[in-house]
Amino acid sequence: MNEAPVGVFDSGVGGLSVLREIRQLLPTESLLYVADSGFVPYGEKPPELICQRSRAIAEFLLAQGAKALVLACNTATAAAVADLRAHFPVPIIGMEPAVKPATLATRSGVVGVLATTGTLRSARFAALLDRFAGSVKVVTQPCPGLVECVERGELSGPQVNALLARYTQPLLEAGCDTLILGCTHYPFLRPALRQLLPSHVHLVDTGAAVARQLRARLAELDALAQGPAQPTRLWSSGDATALERVLPLLWEGNATAESLSV
Ligand code: DGL
Repeated sequence: MNEAPVGVFDSGVGGLSVLREIRQLLPTESLLYVADSGFVPYGEKPPELICQRSRAIAEFLLAQGAKALVLACNTATAAAVADLRAHFPVPIIGMEPAVKPATLATRSGVVGVLATTGTLRSARFAALLDRFAGSVKVVTQPCPGLVECVERGELSGPQVNALLARYTQPLLEAGCDTLILGCTHYPFLRPALRQLLPSHVHLVDTGAAVARQLRARLAELDALAQGPAQPTRLWSSGDATALERVLPLLWEGNATAESLSV
Protein backbone atom coordinates (compact mmCIF):
# COMPACT_ATOMS: atom_id res chain seq x y z
CA MET A 1 0.00 0.00 0.00
CA ASN A 2 2.80 2.46 0.90
CA GLU A 3 4.34 2.08 -2.56
CA ALA A 4 1.00 2.94 -4.21
CA PRO A 5 1.06 6.23 -6.11
CA VAL A 6 -0.32 9.63 -5.14
CA GLY A 7 -2.93 10.96 -7.60
CA VAL A 8 -2.80 14.67 -8.42
CA PHE A 9 -5.13 16.64 -10.68
CA ASP A 10 -6.03 20.07 -11.96
CA SER A 11 -8.10 21.60 -14.74
CA GLY A 12 -4.95 21.61 -16.84
CA VAL A 13 -1.22 22.16 -16.48
CA GLY A 14 -1.40 24.49 -13.45
CA GLY A 15 -1.21 21.62 -11.00
CA LEU A 16 2.24 20.79 -12.37
CA SER A 17 3.47 23.71 -10.23
CA VAL A 18 2.28 21.67 -7.22
CA LEU A 19 3.50 18.35 -8.64
CA ARG A 20 7.01 19.87 -8.81
CA GLU A 21 6.89 20.72 -5.12
CA ILE A 22 5.62 17.24 -4.25
CA ARG A 23 8.35 15.57 -6.26
CA GLN A 24 10.99 17.74 -4.64
CA LEU A 25 9.78 17.12 -1.09
CA LEU A 26 8.80 13.46 -1.56
CA PRO A 27 11.16 11.97 -4.15
CA THR A 28 10.30 8.38 -3.17
CA GLU A 29 6.59 8.78 -3.96
CA SER A 30 5.23 7.56 -7.30
CA LEU A 31 3.01 10.20 -8.88
CA LEU A 32 0.03 10.18 -11.24
CA TYR A 33 -1.20 13.43 -12.79
CA VAL A 34 -4.41 14.24 -14.64
CA ALA A 35 -4.83 17.49 -16.57
CA ASP A 36 -8.55 17.92 -17.26
CA SER A 37 -7.60 19.87 -20.37
CA GLY A 38 -10.82 18.95 -22.15
CA PHE A 39 -12.64 21.15 -19.61
CA VAL A 40 -10.08 23.88 -18.91
CA PRO A 41 -10.58 26.58 -17.67
CA TYR A 42 -12.58 25.68 -14.55
CA GLY A 43 -12.54 29.29 -13.37
CA GLU A 44 -15.64 30.42 -15.23
CA LYS A 45 -17.57 27.12 -15.06
CA PRO A 46 -20.45 26.26 -12.69
CA PRO A 47 -19.37 24.54 -9.44
CA GLU A 48 -21.69 21.58 -10.20
CA LEU A 49 -19.78 20.78 -13.38
CA ILE A 50 -16.42 21.09 -11.60
CA CYS A 51 -17.73 18.76 -8.91
CA GLN A 52 -18.77 16.19 -11.51
CA ARG A 53 -15.41 16.38 -13.24
CA SER A 54 -13.51 16.10 -9.97
CA ARG A 55 -15.48 12.99 -9.00
CA ALA A 56 -14.84 11.32 -12.34
CA ILE A 57 -11.11 12.07 -12.20
CA ALA A 58 -10.87 10.97 -8.55
CA GLU A 59 -12.53 7.66 -9.51
CA PHE A 60 -10.04 7.22 -12.34
CA LEU A 61 -7.03 7.91 -10.12
CA LEU A 62 -8.30 5.56 -7.42
CA ALA A 63 -8.84 2.88 -10.05
CA GLN A 64 -5.13 3.33 -10.89
CA GLY A 65 -4.38 2.46 -7.26
CA ALA A 66 -3.85 5.96 -5.80
CA LYS A 67 -3.43 5.91 -2.00
CA ALA A 68 -4.10 9.65 -1.66
CA LEU A 69 -5.42 12.46 -3.84
CA VAL A 70 -4.22 16.04 -4.21
CA LEU A 71 -6.53 18.61 -5.77
CA ALA A 72 -3.81 20.80 -7.21
CA CYS A 73 -6.43 23.38 -8.05
CA ASN A 74 -7.90 26.14 -5.91
CA THR A 75 -11.07 26.30 -8.02
CA ALA A 76 -11.76 22.56 -7.80
CA THR A 77 -11.03 22.57 -4.07
CA ALA A 78 -13.59 25.32 -3.54
CA ALA A 79 -16.20 23.45 -5.58
CA ALA A 80 -15.53 19.81 -4.82
CA VAL A 81 -13.24 18.94 -1.90
CA ALA A 82 -16.09 18.44 0.58
CA ASP A 83 -17.94 16.19 -1.87
CA LEU A 84 -14.82 14.13 -2.62
CA ARG A 85 -14.03 13.72 1.08
CA ALA A 86 -17.57 12.52 1.69
CA HIS A 87 -17.28 9.90 -1.07
CA PHE A 88 -13.77 8.54 -1.08
CA PRO A 89 -12.05 6.96 1.93
CA VAL A 90 -8.50 8.11 1.15
CA PRO A 91 -6.62 11.21 2.31
CA ILE A 92 -7.64 14.12 0.08
CA ILE A 93 -5.49 17.24 0.17
CA GLY A 94 -7.03 20.40 -1.22
CA MET A 95 -5.64 23.90 -1.54
CA GLU A 96 -6.77 27.45 -1.07
CA PRO A 97 -5.27 30.90 -1.59
CA ALA A 98 -2.53 31.70 0.95
CA VAL A 99 -4.53 34.32 2.87
CA LYS A 100 -3.09 33.43 6.26
CA PRO A 101 0.63 33.69 5.34
CA ALA A 102 -0.05 36.82 3.28
CA THR A 103 -1.80 38.61 6.14
CA LEU A 104 1.17 37.76 8.37
CA ALA A 105 3.68 38.99 5.78
CA THR A 106 2.12 42.31 4.77
CA ARG A 107 3.62 45.56 6.08
CA SER A 108 1.21 47.87 4.28
CA GLY A 109 -1.83 46.07 5.66
CA VAL A 110 -3.19 45.50 2.16
CA VAL A 111 -3.03 42.13 0.43
CA GLY A 112 -4.06 41.31 -3.15
CA VAL A 113 -5.46 38.00 -4.36
CA LEU A 114 -5.12 36.92 -7.98
CA ALA A 115 -7.41 33.93 -8.54
CA THR A 116 -10.17 32.58 -10.75
CA THR A 117 -13.70 33.92 -10.65
CA GLY A 118 -14.87 30.57 -9.27
CA THR A 119 -12.44 30.64 -6.34
CA LEU A 120 -13.20 34.25 -5.45
CA ARG A 121 -16.97 33.67 -5.58
CA SER A 122 -16.88 30.53 -3.45
CA ALA A 123 -18.18 30.12 0.08
CA ARG A 124 -14.83 28.54 1.03
CA PHE A 125 -12.98 31.70 0.06
CA ALA A 126 -15.44 33.88 2.00
CA ALA A 127 -14.88 31.65 5.05
CA LEU A 128 -11.10 31.92 4.59
CA LEU A 129 -11.32 35.72 4.67
CA ASP A 130 -13.59 35.65 7.73
CA ARG A 131 -11.10 33.45 9.48
CA PHE A 132 -7.78 35.07 8.62
CA ALA A 133 -8.13 38.58 7.16
CA GLY A 134 -8.58 40.30 10.53
CA SER A 135 -7.64 43.96 10.17
CA VAL A 136 -5.81 43.39 6.86
CA LYS A 137 -7.57 44.72 3.78
CA VAL A 138 -7.86 42.00 1.14
CA VAL A 139 -8.41 43.15 -2.45
CA THR A 140 -9.42 40.46 -4.95
CA GLN A 141 -8.83 40.30 -8.68
CA PRO A 142 -10.21 37.63 -11.04
CA CYS A 143 -7.84 37.02 -13.96
CA PRO A 144 -9.63 35.59 -17.02
CA GLY A 145 -7.25 34.72 -19.84
CA LEU A 146 -4.14 33.96 -17.77
CA VAL A 147 -4.86 30.24 -17.46
CA GLU A 148 -5.22 29.95 -21.24
CA CYS A 149 -1.79 31.58 -21.72
CA VAL A 150 -0.14 29.09 -19.35
CA GLU A 151 -1.95 26.19 -21.05
CA ARG A 152 -0.32 27.27 -24.34
CA GLY A 153 3.06 27.47 -22.63
CA GLU A 154 3.02 31.26 -23.08
CA LEU A 155 4.74 32.44 -19.89
CA SER A 156 6.04 35.77 -21.16
CA GLY A 157 5.53 38.16 -24.06
CA PRO A 158 3.20 41.03 -24.90
CA GLN A 159 -0.13 39.29 -24.30
CA VAL A 160 0.84 37.87 -20.91
CA ASN A 161 2.43 41.15 -19.84
CA ALA A 162 -0.64 43.14 -20.86
CA LEU A 163 -2.94 40.85 -18.85
CA LEU A 164 -0.65 40.88 -15.82
CA ALA A 165 -0.35 44.66 -15.93
CA ARG A 166 -4.12 45.03 -16.20
CA TYR A 167 -4.78 42.69 -13.27
CA THR A 168 -2.06 43.90 -10.92
CA GLN A 169 -2.49 47.64 -11.46
CA PRO A 170 -5.63 48.03 -9.31
CA LEU A 171 -3.98 45.99 -6.56
CA LEU A 172 -0.88 48.18 -6.57
CA GLU A 173 -3.04 51.29 -6.58
CA ALA A 174 -4.86 49.94 -3.52
CA GLY A 175 -1.49 49.71 -1.72
CA CYS A 176 -0.91 45.92 -1.79
CA ASP A 177 2.62 44.87 -0.88
CA THR A 178 1.79 41.15 -0.89
CA LEU A 179 0.12 39.33 -3.78
CA ILE A 180 -1.36 35.87 -3.41
CA LEU A 181 -1.08 33.65 -6.48
CA GLY A 182 -4.41 31.93 -5.79
CA CYS A 183 -4.46 29.67 -8.84
CA THR A 184 -1.93 26.92 -9.52
CA HIS A 185 -1.31 28.17 -13.06
CA TYR A 186 0.05 31.50 -11.83
CA PRO A 187 3.35 30.38 -10.19
CA PHE A 188 4.54 29.70 -13.77
CA LEU A 189 4.10 33.45 -14.36
CA ARG A 190 6.34 34.46 -11.45
CA PRO A 191 9.27 35.56 -13.67
CA ALA A 192 6.94 37.76 -15.77
CA LEU A 193 5.32 39.16 -12.62
CA ARG A 194 8.69 39.86 -11.03
CA GLN A 195 9.73 41.91 -14.04
CA LEU A 196 6.54 43.91 -13.87
CA LEU A 197 6.14 44.52 -10.14
CA PRO A 198 8.08 46.83 -7.84
CA SER A 199 10.65 44.87 -5.83
CA HIS A 200 8.94 45.49 -2.48
CA VAL A 201 5.90 43.46 -3.61
CA HIS A 202 6.04 39.96 -2.20
CA LEU A 203 4.46 36.97 -4.06
CA VAL A 204 3.02 34.01 -2.16
CA ASP A 205 1.60 30.68 -3.30
CA THR A 206 0.73 27.42 -1.60
CA GLY A 207 2.41 24.69 -3.68
CA ALA A 208 5.13 23.95 -1.12
CA ALA A 209 2.63 24.00 1.76
CA VAL A 210 0.45 21.46 -0.07
CA ALA A 211 3.45 19.15 -0.47
CA ARG A 212 4.20 19.47 3.27
CA GLN A 213 0.57 18.78 4.09
CA LEU A 214 0.64 15.65 1.92
CA ARG A 215 3.80 14.46 3.67
CA ALA A 216 2.21 15.07 7.08
CA ARG A 217 -0.96 13.14 6.18
CA LEU A 218 0.96 10.19 4.74
CA ALA A 219 3.30 10.14 7.75
CA GLU A 220 0.33 10.19 10.13
CA LEU A 221 -1.09 7.12 8.36
CA ASP A 222 2.33 5.49 8.17
CA ALA A 223 1.85 5.44 4.39
CA LEU A 224 5.03 7.16 3.14
CA ALA A 225 6.72 5.24 0.32
CA GLN A 226 10.24 3.85 0.67
CA GLY A 227 10.84 4.16 -3.05
CA PRO A 228 12.28 4.05 -5.57
CA ALA A 229 9.45 5.97 -7.24
CA GLN A 230 7.96 4.72 -10.50
CA PRO A 231 8.16 7.11 -13.48
CA THR A 232 5.43 9.76 -13.22
CA ARG A 233 2.41 9.05 -15.45
CA LEU A 234 0.51 11.97 -16.93
CA TRP A 235 -2.89 12.04 -18.64
CA SER A 236 -4.87 14.69 -20.47
CA SER A 237 -8.63 14.62 -21.02
CA GLY A 238 -8.03 16.98 -23.94
CA ASP A 239 -5.23 16.96 -26.48
CA ALA A 240 -2.42 14.81 -25.05
CA THR A 241 -0.03 16.04 -27.77
CA ALA A 242 -0.66 19.64 -26.72
CA LEU A 243 0.15 18.65 -23.13
CA GLU A 244 3.35 16.93 -24.27
CA ARG A 245 4.40 20.08 -26.12
CA VAL A 246 4.39 22.19 -22.95
CA LEU A 247 5.85 19.55 -20.61
CA PRO A 248 9.50 20.48 -21.28
CA LEU A 249 8.68 23.99 -20.06
CA LEU A 250 6.48 23.09 -17.08
CA TRP A 251 7.66 19.63 -16.07
CA GLU A 252 10.35 17.51 -17.79
CA GLY A 253 11.71 17.30 -21.29
CA ASN A 254 11.29 13.60 -21.93
CA ALA A 255 7.85 13.17 -20.31
CA THR A 256 5.00 11.69 -22.30
CA ALA A 257 1.26 12.14 -21.84
CA GLU A 258 -1.57 9.68 -22.32
CA SER A 259 -5.13 10.39 -23.44
CA LEU A 260 -7.89 10.00 -20.93
CA SER A 261 -11.59 9.86 -21.59
CA VAL A 262 -13.62 10.18 -18.41
N1 DGL B 1 -5.42 25.95 -11.70
C1 DGL B 1 -6.71 26.14 -11.19
C2 DGL B 1 -6.75 26.84 -9.85
O1 DGL B 1 -5.85 26.66 -9.07
C3 DGL B 1 -7.86 26.45 -12.11
C4 DGL B 1 -7.65 27.32 -13.28
C5 DGL B 1 -8.81 27.24 -14.24
O2 DGL B 1 -8.98 26.20 -14.86
O3 DGL B 1 -9.55 28.23 -14.34
O4 DGL B 1 -7.66 27.53 -9.53
